[in-house]
Amino acid sequence: MTASTAHTAQLLTLFGATGDLAGRMLFPSLYGLQAEGLLPERLRILGSARSELDDAAFRELVAQSVKRHAPDGECREDALRALLERIEYRAAPLDDATSMASLVEAIDARRDGDVLCHLSTAPRWYGAVCDALANGGLAGAGTRVMLEKPIGHDLSSAIAINDAVSAVFDESQVFRVDHYLGKEGVQNLLALRFGNALFEPLWNARHIAQVQITVAETVGVEGRGDYYDTAGAVRDMLQNHLLQLLCLVAMEPPSQFEPTAVRNEKLKVLRSLRPIGAAEVAIETAAGQYTAGAIDGVAVPGYAQELGRASGTETFVAIRAHVDNWRWSGVPFYLRTGKRLPHRRTEIFIQFRQVPHSIFGSAPIAPNSLLIELQPDEHISLRLMSKTPGLDRSGLQLSKVTLDLDMQDEFAAHCRRPAYERLYLDALEGNGTLFVRRDETEVAWRWVDAIRAGWRDAGLQPRSYPAGTWGPAAALTLGERHGHGWRE
Ligand code: BG6
Repeated sequence: MTASTAHTAQLLTLFGATGDLAGRMLFPSLYGLQAEGLLPERLRILGSARSELDDAAFRELVAQSVKRHAPDGECREDALRALLERIEYRAAPLDDATSMASLVEAIDARRDGDVLCHLSTAPRWYGAVCDALANGGLAGAGTRVMLEKPIGHDLSSAIAINDAVSAVFDESQVFRVDHYLGKEGVQNLLALRFGNALFEPLWNARHIAQVQITVAETVGVEGRGDYYDTAGAVRDMLQNHLLQLLCLVAMEPPSQFEPTAVRNEKLKVLRSLRPIGAAEVAIETAAGQYTAGAIDGVAVPGYAQELGRASGTETFVAIRAHVDNWRWSGVPFYLRTGKRLPHRRTEIFIQFRQVPHSIFGSAPIAPNSLLIELQPDEHISLRLMSKTPGLDRSGLQLSKVTLDLDMQDEFAAHCRRPAYERLYLDALEGNGTLFVRRDETEVAWRWVDAIRAGWRDAGLQPRSYPAGTWGPAAALTLGERHGHGWRE
């Protein structure tokens, strides 16, 4: 079965249905689709988790989370009722083979066309769930599995998980989630690059001096300390979200907007990333961990305090990366992400090269830049030089001006849809364009593993930074020694 010939799934089975992600994102997104009339008409939803709940208690749980997290802040009773009518629940601890077998029987009994199994559990269970599906006769065409990140915690664990899944399912049946790909602003990157003839001729090393990708969060570890402390910023954010953004910025134009073409191009970027190992980490990377500080004037504890113990895990990372190919030779890609930074901000900043020669004597000319803000609001702004009005006798004076596109204003009549609405629709319909292929995940792991091994071999520990600041001082010097300051 290929994505393009897949039929729309009529049964969604959610493993991990009482979990945090399900409550905050998944059911509210299913509600959003229901409210818009976009769920397949006959779709049934079967939730499963360890807790012993009956259908009514589970529906009540779903109703509460939808009311709390409804995408547009208000929850329509009729739409919620219609969603709840689709939902059933079966308790099945993942480590209990008998319950799993009877859950799979229940899935089989309800199947009425294709089935989408969404695994929102700890990834170490993915293999076992796939085996249970296979043992119950659900391995063939017509079943798709949607897998949450992280796929493993390093390359070898990712390979083990991918092997276990692929022992049962063909790659075309596997939908690995990176929820950033479902965001409107992230898809708009593709529209901006490939829906306009304007940028592409300039989109290369000849015209671009540097690229910065920032994913800054103000939140700390939000009660997820046990997971986060085993992950850190590199595995939690860099390996997936930042590298996916980098791919979309750096990739060659795919011939079509379809799964193979898009993912082939992203893979080429990942394969072109220059390895950073023990010899380079000290100058090309900076890791940090937040200490107590303040965000928006509110005091917040340090990471170790939140965790309740000392830890060597990084909550911030900045990297000077290079994509070694013809298009990007010599252009640094600065990547940074961290918790407890001053603002929530996801953005891509592209700085073009200086004019080759100034005809304006000593009047300063700043290089053009393109800023693509993705979160919290979507803005696209292009910085240009303009004549400052006046009758300067000492020569024409120039000022920086900005062409600013506010996507909220521009599309005021359109509702911006949460990432999981897009991802669910695509997975139900079998379109994998916005999902991550196995080879992408593994090549990304190889690159980040080398960085982490480099830190270990070079004996580098995260430097502390007070919450509410832009990471440790080393993050500043990363670019400054090349004349590239972070955009702030
Ligand atoms: C998740 C990470 O993948 O992405 C979290 O595990 C992080 O640590 C989150 O907070 C950020 O997503 P968003 O959509 O809020 O930018």
